[in-house]
Amino acid sequence: MAMMLLMTQTRLEASSMPSFEQWLQQQQQRTQQQLQALLDNTAAPARLIAAMQYAVLGGGKRLRPLLAYAAAQAVGGDSRSADIPACAVEFIHAYSLIHDDLPSMDDDILRRGQPTCHIKFDEATAILAGDALQALAFELLASTPAFSDALRVQMLRELATASGWQGMVGGQALDIAATGLPLAESGLSYMHSLKTGALITASVVLGALSTGRASVHQLDSLRLFAQQAGLAFQIQDDILDVEASTAVSGKEQGKDARQHKATYPSVLGLAEAKQRLNAVAARADAALNAFGPQADRLRQLAQYLVQRPS
Ligand code: IPE
Ligand code: IPE
Ligand code: MG
Ligand code: MG
Ligand code: MG
Repeated sequence: MAMMLLMTQTRLEASSMPSFEQWLQQQQQRTQQQLQALLDNTAAPARLIAAMQYAVLGGGKRLRPLLAYAAAQAVGGDSRSADIPACAVEFIHAYSLIHDDLPSMDDDILRRGQPTCHIKFDEATAILAGDALQALAFELLASTPAFSDALRVQMLRELATASGWQGMVGGQALDIAATGLPLAESGLSYMHSLKTGALITASVVLGALSTGRASVHQLDSLRLFAQQAGLAFQIQDDILDVEASTAVSGKEQGKDARQHKATYPSVLGLAEAKQRLNAVAARADAALNAFGPQADRLRQLAQYLVQRPS
């Protein structure tokens, strides 16, 4: 894995591209500015917009926007076309985190090293901030004049299915249903593919679609890539819950075990979970075989997803 990262890096450096770390930082800054501008809406009730800003702007790796930008590049497009989709998926993600942390869900008090939204504000405000962010994501996509009507509908459908019962919300329901019960690995990977994989897949697909030049074949490969990368991402999230200190992850260490969550380490053990992580990451990389160096940012991101410390 380290060797793969090195080879991709060397190829990019030879073509005088920014290093992965530089690119990561640039795109994160770009995303932060866009999100900030979109939330700079003083017409909304003050407490509501404050909670939305708190949940969106206070850190986060911005992996979903990064995937959207990298997917746009992978199909040879201009990554700027992915600006709105990138923000839309991040709004859905931020909403999912606010609701995931609620007392009736994971009951978490710490997120990104700060009090969770319902602790900082109150539960009702947190619920509403999540609701508003979700609606905002769809409003944004629906009102972007740069996309044709047909493309807008395609993107809206993609994001809606990834967010709702066929995607993130469905996965969260399975997560709650599985808590405290034994779960087979097939059930676990299915749950993860919905609760986390679906939005990660939508991020990649929307990024590629936004360029208006993704072929059906490319979209199929990108979807396959993202499904594997999304699963790998959640396996690593499960592993980090065991291994990463609260200071590093910004989330309470060991929370999954205390809550009897069904996770890769709880079902397979830590060593086996790590093996699965590497196998799934290799499948993600293989899904990009038909792409040339244009997909290197996506390849690097997939490696980062599984090696990230938090
Ligand atoms: C955490 O996602 C929630 C999961 C889907 C596992 P991230 O690790 O992407 O969270 P931030 O946005 O970087 O804080
Ligand atoms: C959350 O999964 C997935 C979402 C849809 C937000 P987790 O419950 O494992 O995420 P963290 O660990 O709290 O970030
Ligand atoms: Mg959860
Ligand atoms: Mg959680
Ligand atoms: Mg987790």
